[in-house]
Amino acid sequence: CMERTFLMLKPDAVQRGLVGRIVAKLEDKGFKLVGMKFIQVDRALAEAHYAEHKGKGFFEPTVAYIMSSPVVAMVWQGKNVVALARELMGATNPANANPGSIRGKYGMDISRNVIHGSDSVASAEREIALYFKPEELVDYTKAG
Ligand code: CMP
Repeated sequence: CMERTFLMLKPDAVQRGLVGRIVAKLEDKGFKLVGMKFIQVDRALAEAHYAEHKGKGFFEPTVAYIMSSPVVAMVWQGKNVVALARELMGATNPANANPGSIRGKYGMDISRNVIHGSDSVASAEREIALYFKPEELVDYTKAG
């Protein structure tokens, strides 16, 4: 069914100049871009984003990492986009990710895994609302 997902190009993707190539992959698949912003994440937003991991050993380093340099926050729309985008991204740990996936192609380290994507429709709704105001999501008709 028609869905929206939240995808974030993490600091390593921006620092390494991978933004265009990753966006191109999502466009090539046919997903529709409905929101995009280049931002520096602050602590409140980082902690809210990773709230489900609070108490785990990787919580603080992961929060610190996404605050360390700008990120690209995006909303993509399409049929089954939540699961399909996760397939394109590959496994959380780039070491285990299919080499054809984004993390498999560009990553080596679980803490610097290039991209974040919502793991369910419910997470997508929560994450989209954290990063975007409703009026920042653009409604338009995409050809093709
Ligand atoms: P992400 O999909 O953004 O969601 C949680 C993030 O925590 C994950 O990607 C990783 O970048 C980071 N992380 C660091 N260490 C771990 C770990 N041991 N298990 C899961 N996630 C980890």
